[in-house]
Amino acid sequence: MARLHFHGHATFSITTDEGTRLLIDPFFVGNPAADIGLDEIGAVDFVLCTHGHADHFGDALTICERTGAVLISSYEIVSYAATRGVENGHPMGIGGGYDFPFGRVKMTVALHGPSVAGDGAEGFSSTPCGFLISLPNKTLYFAGDTALTMDMQLLRGLVDIAVLPIGDNFTMGPEDATRAVEFVEPAVVVPFHYGTWDIIDQDPSRFASLVGDRAQVEILEPGAHYDF
Ligand code: NI
Ligand code: MN
Repeated sequence: MARLHFHGHATFSITTDEGTRLLIDPFFVGNPAADIGLDEIGAVDFVLCTHGHADHFGDALTICERTGAVLISSYEIVSYAATRGVENGHPMGIGGGYDFPFGRVKMTVALHGPSVAGDGAEGFSSTPCGFLISLPNKTLYFAGDTALTMDMQLLRGLVDIAVLPIGDNFTMGPEDATRAVEFVEPAVVVPFHYGTWDIIDQDPSRFASLVGDRAQVEILEPGAHYDF
């Protein structure tokens, strides 16, 4: 059994069957929705980062330095991380995939802003992405912060569990996320990127009603998990 754990806002961890721990978009310091503090994270093997905004990239450098985790992200973000002392990086580009020991990661298209937060990051910009993570038993799609895109139709039939933003304003809202479910046809969908601040306040049960019987909607409170 593998476990998808929601840490609040856009931060998830996956513990695979074999016990590898992936941390996605780590944002603990300053995250009003975080279920744990930065010092309670424990061992991490890989940190995956979809884009450079502070609510996704915020604690990536600190965690990589503390745990020795490999940073999987865009070439630009991995290059910036190297200037901040993170040598253990694996750069990727959109559309590219790579077979890691735990499974395959493919970078998917996301339509969102390119800035990178951090000291000395002014010269860096990074095209945001999502991740298609294929573990031995299931494939997960982390859309990242994104608009609804036609490109999502390319994922139809490939995804067991889709993790989709529903907060609106900065990303898809519930209606467009429902269209994303129609495009991707996952068995399970997990909403995220809502409720952390007033500007992205949403009722996830309304999203669940919109999705209806197209997919099983798993609404995770921060600290909750979904086993697969
Ligand atoms: Ni963002
Ligand atoms: Mn965000």
